[in-house]
Amino acid sequence: MTLLIEADREAGFLDWQRCFREAAPDLKIRWWADPEVDPAEVLYVFCYAPEPGRLSRFPNLRLICSASVGVDNIVTDGTWPTHVPLVRMGCSETAQRMSDYVAWACLSINLNLPRIALAQRTRTWDKVTALRTIPETRVGILGMGNLGAKAAQSLRDFGFSTAGWSRTRKSLPGIESFVGSEELQPFLQRADILVCLLPGTPETVRFLSEDRLARLPVGAGLVNVGRGSHVDVEALTAALDSGHLSGAVLDVFETEPLAADDPLWGHPKVVVTSHLASTASRESRARYAASVIAAFERGDDVPNRFDPVRGY
Ligand SMILES: NC(=O)c1ccc[n+]([C@@H]2O[C@H](COP(=O)([O-])OP(=O)(O)OC[C@H]3O[C@@H](n4cnc5c(N)ncnc54)[C@H](OP(=O)(O)O)[C@@H]3O)[C@@H](O)[C@H]2O)c1
Repeated sequence: MTLLIEADREAGFLDWQRCFREAAPDLKIRWWADPEVDPAEVLYVFCYAPEPGRLSRFPNLRLICSASVGVDNIVTDGTWPTHVPLVRMGCSETAQRMSDYVAWACLSINLNLPRIALAQRTRTWDKVTALRTIPETRVGILGMGNLGAKAAQSLRDFGFSTAGWSRTRKSLPGIESFVGSEELQPFLQRADILVCLLPGTPETVRFLSEDRLARLPVGAGLVNVGRGSHVDVEALTAALDSGHLSGAVLDVFETEPLAADDPLWGHPKVVVTSHLASTASRESRARYAASVIAAFERGDDVPNRFDPVRGY
């Protein structure tokens, strides 16, 4: 059974091969551009950004496993074989790293991290007081999927008063569940910190608009770890400048890398990180892909399958 690896191109292949040999000793691991591979022998592909048209050239392909949570690079190719299951990366390390980052970001907003960093840079003794204690802080998570649900549980365990918003109702102990457009208003009204973990779909573009940001309580903070396209940056900057919002921690941007002259870098209420919230190790991702392939081989349902109709 041949697994073809495209992720991280040639430079990463030997390391991926090592990880997959440990995780799935029965698979034959081959490099994506190996001229000796017969396309008919390829049953599985592990990829991040395959060149358009390539995935449709494997006549016996059984499953595509994405090396990342986002699958835009795959599904924007109009020829990708939609009858073949496409599985998004869902290893536990991705969710753990994301929930660690979200906890840090929420604490950074409460502690006014940009002001603390400025004080250190300018050698100023500035006794910043935390905006809120953890039990006083109501966090709202937009998107309660693999990453949102794990982050919500970890925030709850820290003592934050935690709620989530999603399309379908969730029942996680100690986490209030809000659903759909009719429950968005009460959800936003109770979010002292709003964390965005929505997927990138046509409905979520500019989801964090001027109107929705205005519905957050005065002094609220924003953590965006979903997609850069979720935020109307002009509206966010205006809400920070007016004092309606107290701070933002932003990890994702419409154009990455963020341009060196982008005003967000120097905004006194913004922490910028370089799309680093959650990248799992190759070992963990290979183990996850191997477990998905094994489930498929047993005839079990594969987890975390991309649904072209929902768009995530
Ligand atoms: N910054 C980073 O380093 C990093 C790393 C990995 C991933 N990400 C990003 O994190 C985001 C979340 O990933 P994930 O794997 O957790 O996604 P996921 O498992 O697909 O979960 C998506 C969640 O959003 C909800 N949702 C989708 N459309 C909605 C709508 N129109 N209205 C209300 N709720 C909606 C879904 O509701 P249902 O549960 O009801 O379906 C689900 O709870 C993605 O944008 C991904 O690209 C960022």
